[in-house]
Amino acid sequence: MTKIAIIGTQFGDEGKGKIIDLVSPSFDVVARYQGGHNAEHTIMTPRGKEIILHLLPSSIIKPGIYNILLAGVLVDPLELTNEIKELRGLGYRVDPSNFGISNRTHMNLDFHKEYERMMEDKKGKDAVGTTMKGIGPTAITKYAREGLRFREFLNPDSFERYLESLPRSYRNWVQKIFKSSKPSGNIVAKGVDTCKYLDMYQEAQEFLRPFIVDEAGFLKKRKNDNWLYESAQGCMLDIDAGTYPYVTSSNPILPPSDTEERWGISKAYTTRVGYGNLPTQMEPDKEKFMRGRKGVTPGAEYGATTGRPRNCGWWDGVIAEYAVNVAAIDELDMTKMDRFDEFEKIKICIAYKYRDSKLTEFPVDRYVFEQVEPVYIEVPGWKKDTTNAREPGDLPQEFIDYLKRIEDIAGRKIHYASVGQKAEQTIDFSGY
Ligand code: IMP
Repeated sequence: MTKIAIIGTQFGDEGKGKIIDLVSPSFDVVARYQGGHNAEHTIMTPRGKEIILHLLPSSIIKPGIYNILLAGVLVDPLELTNEIKELRGLGYRVDPSNFGISNRTHMNLDFHKEYERMMEDKKGKDAVGTTMKGIGPTAITKYAREGLRFREFLNPDSFERYLESLPRSYRNWVQKIFKSSKPSGNIVAKGVDTCKYLDMYQEAQEFLRPFIVDEAGFLKKRKNDNWLYESAQGCMLDIDAGTYPYVTSSNPILPPSDTEERWGISKAYTTRVGYGNLPTQMEPDKEKFMRGRKGVTPGAEYGATTGRPRNCGWWDGVIAEYAVNVAAIDELDMTKMDRFDEFEKIKICIAYKYRDSKLTEFPVDRYVFEQVEPVYIEVPGWKKDTTNAREPGDLPQEFIDYLKRIEDIAGRKIHYASVGQKAEQTIDFSGY
């Protein structure tokens, strides 16, 4: 029996989907435990087609695995219904035999998105740059104890009662926040329209009903199975560990408490989408190359959820060292190493400069983090196509040296290094 968590160690988009896809055949259950459809996990079908998943776990197309959304996931029923239908349209099975939704997941509804649009708008230059999927407001209603869970959503009477009580508290609350700016949003003007909502969600209610799982009973029944816990986003977007306030509204670094091992995923370089500092942002020509062309370059750096271009930076050792410790990472997996194949030289950030001091520890103070400058070392690139490498012996020495530097800085061994999107484009360094 094994319980392993896959956790992003940067700002999300580390390539967790590829590693989960690769290792999941050794597991019986793959479980998402936080986040919502703000996530974007890219997996490849055996025929080489790219599929982007937002809510369904990354092993959903693999036979013999049961996939589940645990209580910490925020579920938009309309998005989830569409995602399942799309996957079925591609010929994949998604039914109660391979997928379930915990009865305690919180529902992300339409008014959460409307509220988020108003909040981000009101913040102006201080906006977080969220994915606009209503994740923050869903977390707000959850923690304000005004949320709706999947069990209640499925019961038309409970759903109606919830909608009828919600407009009062929620509208009052929104009105208080916006009293000076007087937005013309629906919630403020009219409250949540119960009839409209009942209609809007009726189909999703019926469609998702067969997937409900009693989480407590399920955990008891499957406790001796091998579980893979799949996080979304990454350590630096974690609400407690990340670059607050430019973070998401959940804890990617806190997998379920029975987790035995935590594997950290790190991209060979760093990317960030949304606002908030990226100290190691590359020079414009390098960044343009790294980002690639949307829909043309495999693994191009554009958000699949929002289409926004990702900012690209060099690998940041200050963040890596912080992340592996704060998230209690046992080992690292490196992704997208092949994206450096054409580079003459590669920079690695080993510290930050802040005013006259050199920082080797991640500064929690946001106003300090905003002003840090990276201190780099420069290492030679390998100038060789590595996408056909399958074992360490196939790799140029400079590639191995780059990994060794990362191991030294992060203080963790590297298990897998990935050189392409396909499962076979992965090199196993265990025992190396
Ligand atoms: P939210 O999660 O939509 O509230 O957005 C908060 C911050 O997290 C924003 O900077 C988003 O761009 C970022 N974010 C959320 N989900 C992801 C993800 O899956 N990958 C990368 N960034 C994300």
